[in-house]
Formats: sequence, C-alpha cells, structure tokens
Amino acid sequence: MSSLLLDVSGIDTFYGRSQVLFGMELRVNAGEVVTLMGRNGMGKTTTIRSIMGLTPAATGSIRFRDAEIRGLAAYRVAKLGVGLVPEGRQIFPNLSVRENLVATAANRRGETGDNGWTYERVVKLFPRLAERAGNMGNQLSGGEQQMLAVGRALMTNPHLLILDEATEGLAPLIRQEIWNCLEQLKQAGQSILIVDKNVDALTKLADRHYVIEKGRVVWQGNSAELAGSADIQHRYLGV
Ligand SMILES: Nc1ncnc2c1ncn2[C@@H]1O[C@H](COP(=O)(O)OP(=O)(O)O)[C@@H](O)[C@H]1O
Ligand SMILES: [Mg+2]
Repeated sequence: MSSLLLDVSGIDTFYGRSQVLFGMELRVNAGEVVTLMGRNGMGKTTTIRSIMGLTPAATGSIRFRDAEIRGLAAYRVAKLGVGLVPEGRQIFPNLSVRENLVATAANRRGETGDNGWTYERVVKLFPRLAERAGNMGNQLSGGEQQMLAVGRALMTNPHLLILDEATEGLAPLIRQEIWNCLEQLKQAGQSILIVDKNVDALTKLADRHYVIEKGRVVWQGNSAELAGSADIQHRYLGV
C-alpha cells in the first residue's frame, strides 16, 4: 500500500450537458489534512460528489487505496472507507442523536481492530452530543447538527473523512469547537479532506491546499506557501 490514499486525476464532470470540472486533480496522502478552497460555484462540492460517486465523473481516474473507484456507486465508495460530512449536514431529523450515530455505524472488522469508533468515543469527542442523546435531529442547533454529522461519518470508521463546508453558518465559538475536534482527529492520524472558507483556520490545521477556479486547480501548495501568498488569497479566495 502506497502512502497515497486518494488520487484524483484528470476528471471531467457534467450536470447534463453543462461541464463543471475540467481535468480536476487532487491528492491526499495517508495521515494528511488537505483542503479544497475557492469561491462559490467553482466546483468544490462537485469534486466531492464525483469522488463519492454521487455525481459520477465522465472521464479521468479516481484511485482510493490503490483501487480505481470512478464509476462505483456511492454506497460502495462509502463502504471502502470514505466518510462524508455533506454540505448542509443532512442528518436524519426524525431520529435521535443516538439513533443518528448508530444507524450508519460500520465496523470493518479486522481493519479497525479495537481502534474503531463507537458511540461512547464519539460523545467523548463531542460531550454536547451526550447531553442531547435523546433529542431528535431537528431539535439541535446548527453546531450540534454539524457535530452529529461529523460523529456519524466517524462511526463508519473512514480511512478518509471528507467535510464539505465544515463550519459554514456556525457561530464563531462553535466553529472553534469544530476546528479543535479536527485538530484532535489529525493528531490521531485521521486523513481528512476539507472544504471551508476560513483560510486562517485552514492554514493552521491543514498540511496542503488546492485552490479551484471554474473546475480546475489554479494553485496548490503547503500552508506556509498559502499563508505567504497574499495575492493568491486575494485573487481566488476573496480574502
Ligand atoms: N445539480 C446541479 N445541476 C446543474 N448545475 C449544478 C448543479 N449543482 C451545481 N451546479 C453548478 O456547478 C457549478 C459548481 O457548483 P458546486 O460544485 O456546487 O460549487 P462550490 O461547491 O464550489 O460552490 C456551479 O456553476 C453550479 O451552479
Ligand atoms: Mg459547495
């Protein structure tokens, strides 16, 4: 097994006849935290949907753990170990917090051993969820819903955790809780691909960054390079 976990190369993705991704590429190594940034409508969510098989890429290659996954159905991609926290959270409104977490749990026996995520481990990471265990999904605040969405993805024991708009619409203190949680996951060796707009938090947390414009990577580099590239931040991220 190479240390290359996810290798997206040269993918074109369409909605009907409208092309959104043009030779999109991106790599995540095992243990890395990588970001995908860019203004609204540039193709970040479409890239993630292509990886997941929700909006299949028409051409190119998507390799995950040395296997080609382009063309696989989304449930199979999830089963191979890609855990998604989708834009807008999409938790189950009529299930309790506990039910939301256990409903999607997957124990890839033999792979995760004793290190697998359990309900107990998730609520230790997010103590707020323990207090809300019996509440329905639709009774939670936005921040609690996002914690639940992250916990739900972790319960699948993903090799790669993907977050689309990790902190969008959340209050500053709640955002900070999400960043702290992601930092803890990183320290534990979790590989993560994040879409978010908070450049400062992302340069602190992540190892490498991709900036996308109109469905193409226009810049990539490490956190020091991004922090030092005021022109890139201004031109492509509106900072
Ligand atoms: N379901 C869809 N049908 C048609 N066009 C879409 C659909 N979803 C997104 N698009 C278009 O694809 C482009 C990229 O969208 P998206 O990947 O959601 O961007 P981002 O996540 O970077 O904001 C936008 O121009 C958007 O209008
Ligand atoms: Mg999006």
